[in-house]
Amino acid sequence: MKNYPLIRYALLVGTFFFLLLPSNSALAAGKLNYYCSAQEDWCQLMARGFEKETGVKVNMTRKSSGETFAQLKAEARNPKGDIWWGGTGDPHLQAAEEGLTVAYRSSMASELNDWALSQAMSADYKTVGIYSGALGFGYNKDLLKKNNLPAPACWKDLTKSIYKGHVQMANPNSSGTAYTTLATIVQIFGEKDGFNFMKALHKNINNYTKSGSAPIKAAARGENTIGIVFLHDAVKQAVKGFPIVAVAPCEGTGYEIGSMSIIKGSRNMKEAKMFYDYALKANVQSKALEVNSFQVPSNKNAKTSSKAPKLSSIKLIEYDFQKYGSNAERKRLLKKWDADVGSLPR
Ligand code: G6P
Repeated sequence: MKNYPLIRYALLVGTFFFLLLPSNSALAAGKLNYYCSAQEDWCQLMARGFEKETGVKVNMTRKSSGETFAQLKAEARNPKGDIWWGGTGDPHLQAAEEGLTVAYRSSMASELNDWALSQAMSADYKTVGIYSGALGFGYNKDLLKKNNLPAPACWKDLTKSIYKGHVQMANPNSSGTAYTTLATIVQIFGEKDGFNFMKALHKNINNYTKSGSAPIKAAARGENTIGIVFLHDAVKQAVKGFPIVAVAPCEGTGYEIGSMSIIKGSRNMKEAKMFYDYALKANVQSKALEVNSFQVPSNKNAKTSSKAPKLSSIKLIEYDFQKYGSNAERKRLLKKWDADVGSLPR
């Protein structure tokens, strides 16, 4: 009987310190270093959605596809990232070939479109397709009118001297969009004529941006007339109310398989796999529409929008992902572009 007050006191103190501790689930939840190469608003949506569903704390870094690939390579001996979500598939394939990412077979595979799975299979499951979208360009119709310029309809139109200073694209070293452009042009016109095209285009370029979608954002702001971008990026600006028109070039065009990979040496492997499964879910991919991201989702049951570019009505080339996503070819093409195009005066 005498000990009762003491016990009560001990319980009270115990409870007080227990309350100060983080909850068990928060302790177990862990963290995730997330490298994102899609547009910032979609990257954020994915990070916050995952945090909310799992309690895992997400540290996000947004960089373009080529830049993220370079970062993975630079950090290979001391990896800082866990998962790389988004960005064009070519550098993801190159990372797989270079052993910078690891294989993972998600239980979500059965819900994916064939093109997403073939991306995974071609890299021994070291990457997977999360979305797809066709390349093209977009223009600001008000600026075109103001400058008395005709509407471009074909890739070849973009090399006409009337468009000098009116075209913008990203640098293919940093941007997956721009690398897809280079590889597309080479596949449509052949290597010799393709590089002649890139040289003629170079004369009309007002700026090579770091990020792939920047040229169409500049066009939306009225700071640039034509931007070479993925069609969904042009549609995104049009849907926001800017005077942007998206064009699927008359000669045909290439496309991307936006991808996701787990980084080799990840220190939060459990969380990386959780995110991977999360990102392949239909309801998660459907959320892209909340931020006007109109890519084709890789999960067959995810929602699409009537505003999204209709891939079936676009003349798509048979983009050779194996070749243009290989280490040797990507390195060779970029080196050649730097030497023969990027370094020329405009
Ligand atoms: C935009 C597009 C994505 C694409 C990405 C590549 O964000 O919406 O579909 O994967 O560009 O970015 P980058 O900056 O590497 O060209």
